[in-house]
Amino acid sequence: MSADYQVHGSVAVITMANPPVNGLGLATRQGLVDGLLRADADAAVSAIVITGAGSAFSGGADINEFGTDKSAQEPHLLSVIAVIENSSKPVVAALHSVAMGGGLELALGCHYRIAAPSCRIALPEVKLGLIPGAGGTQRLPRALGVEAALNLIVSGESVNSEMIGALPGQKLLDKLSTSAQALAAEALAFAQGVAAARPLPLVRNLPCRHPEGQAYFQFARNMVKGMSRNFPAPALCVDAVEAATRGPFADGMQIERAIFMKLMQTPESRALRHLFMAERAASKIPDVPSDTPRRDIRAVAVIGAGTMGGGIAMNFLNAGLPVKILEMKPQALERGLATIGKNYEAQVKKGKLTQDKYQQRMALLSTTLDYADIRDADLVIEAVFEDLGVKESVFRQLDAQMKPGAILASNTSTLDIDKIATFTGRPQDVVGMHFFSPANVMKLLEVVRGKATAKDVLATVMAIAKKIRKTAVVAGVCDGFIGNRMIEQYSRQAGFLLDEGCTPEQVDKAIEKFGFAMGPFRMGDLAGNDIGWAIRKRRAVERAEMKYSRTSDKLCELGRFGQKTAAGWYDYQAGKRDAIASALVHRMIEEHRQQLGITPRKIADEEIVQRLVFALVNEGARILEDGIASKSGDIDMVYITGYGFPMHRGGPMRYASELGLFNVVQAMGRFARNPHDDAAFWQPAPLLARLAAQGKTFN
Ligand code: NAI
Repeated sequence: MSADYQVHGSVAVITMANPPVNGLGLATRQGLVDGLLRADADAAVSAIVITGAGSAFSGGADINEFGTDKSAQEPHLLSVIAVIENSSKPVVAALHSVAMGGGLELALGCHYRIAAPSCRIALPEVKLGLIPGAGGTQRLPRALGVEAALNLIVSGESVNSEMIGALPGQKLLDKLSTSAQALAAEALAFAQGVAAARPLPLVRNLPCRHPEGQAYFQFARNMVKGMSRNFPAPALCVDAVEAATRGPFADGMQIERAIFMKLMQTPESRALRHLFMAERAASKIPDVPSDTPRRDIRAVAVIGAGTMGGGIAMNFLNAGLPVKILEMKPQALERGLATIGKNYEAQVKKGKLTQDKYQQRMALLSTTLDYADIRDADLVIEAVFEDLGVKESVFRQLDAQMKPGAILASNTSTLDIDKIATFTGRPQDVVGMHFFSPANVMKLLEVVRGKATAKDVLATVMAIAKKIRKTAVVAGVCDGFIGNRMIEQYSRQAGFLLDEGCTPEQVDKAIEKFGFAMGPFRMGDLAGNDIGWAIRKRRAVERAEMKYSRTSDKLCELGRFGQKTAAGWYDYQAGKRDAIASALVHRMIEEHRQQLGITPRKIADEEIVQRLVFALVNEGARILEDGIASKSGDIDMVYITGYGFPMHRGGPMRYASELGLFNVVQAMGRFARNPHDDAAFWQPAPLLARLAAQGKTFN
């Protein structure tokens, strides 16, 4: 049973019980209908309360039913609401903690609503590329007023019950309970109080108008333009709410339904729903059960106060955990500390952080030059130079000094975690925590699982990642893990495109038009072209046969490392970040082509995008095959949260699936015939070839 039924005096209480958030799955919907009909038929019952067990009234649709037959089975949510509206006895929704999406729509169908303080109220469907589909766009404007309702629907953000209660003229909440604990008793008393009230009030019967009518909706459309660039839903939210003000309720409901069904079929909504599920799935590791015991993390140490160390430390300070940073020299500590301070001060200036919070965070931070001072830390993250020898000396000292059971993590972006683990006598405690720069901002954390990494270490690191608000994705050990292993192929394609006729601007523009936050060359200039240069020099020894364009090496030989040298693929004016096309770089590329004997050709944007994106896809397929990622959704999460892949495309693997893997393989066959490309790379990964042949997708 997913809804419990009890009678208290003359009031029937139906309690949704579908943990964790009382999602409105089939059994819950059926339980609600059964309870409502039973109460209606019971002469001893004069009023009904609907509430939710545990930590929510209801979070809305049951995500476990997404894409299954159950979501389409009767009773639909619309039918449940119809049963409520047709009830001969008053139905009171008792809201607490969370009333979102379908949960709020259910409450809007009830005759009355009472809410506990701090109850979060939202219609977040727009975040899945949808509009509310069970009357939310028609009832909320009637209950809350057009503007407030449209703001909630278009943003998908939550507001708390006190804020709603304070809105003049609102009819969403009839009463606020004095406390969360008092809700049950006060809802019962409220229900008894309205037991005899007739006619029963229905939100659908309330008037719905905006004094400025069309002019207001025109203004609203302009406001959502920015949000709507890649997503149809926000503008359609405006249409649906406008419909509520235009005609009878039933007509508005039909318009809402039609828009909802249309949006369900859009690639944008499919992409967002995929990412919603992928994010939740990423935190689950197939062979690490969710009840795996976790180690207690109360204190953190960071080794190295450079670019990454400082940012990493800030994450834990922000979450209220004490951090001690260890360095080799006092000057390095001072520099690191000053950078952290400056970062926080900038946030204070922008009004994003209060002075108090800033002080609190800085008070949690301490520094040392001595390993003995960090021995009691529960988690230590190493962020020293990317050099195996340096890492070895750090890990040997950690092994000698750290208390038993401490988790020893490395932020290495390319080195072998299994090798690093051998520098200790406790390889089970060693794990990779690969943050992205700037580490205090970027959402992605690749958790690198070594051969020996213990399950409780993984479970602990995934939990701590959540605490510091990162999206953690587990990767196996290989060069570059998931993200950087794939980006290498993407960068190689970017280089070949220059050799064949493109300018850096053309490549960047094409992929930015596709939706990437930044093209490969602007990105290189931002991150520093010398980083890739160092990696390529290493590769030249390890994988001498690998073909790549020499243009990027030539750029570095000119000292053009990017923004930090005010010159890279683009020119930069002192102190500015605007990328200006560089005549010198164009000449360098042309001379390089001449040396290779290539006659440049005009390359269409479509080819540019396909070569860059399919390079990611093919390497992604290999990563899946090698077991470096356990599911394709993990790869998509890495690219969305760490590499600026456009969200409305759902990540590289989802995008390829949307296009059809057969089409992807066909295009790869064409690229393989290009003499200036790497034919071997364009051999489809066996997994990709198999799925394409079977007409299947990655996800
Ligand atoms: P960085 O050069 O800015 O900082 C390294 C710091 O470590 C310096 O302050 C140095 O004094 C200190 N250090 C060096 N040897 C030490 C030792 N034996 N004991 C204590 N402190 C020592 O380097 P960055 O960029 O912060 O990189 C650190 C690590 O993070 C590297 O493994 C790098 O591959 C990785 N990484 C870097 C990213 C980036 O974008 N910079 C992104 C992701 C990972």
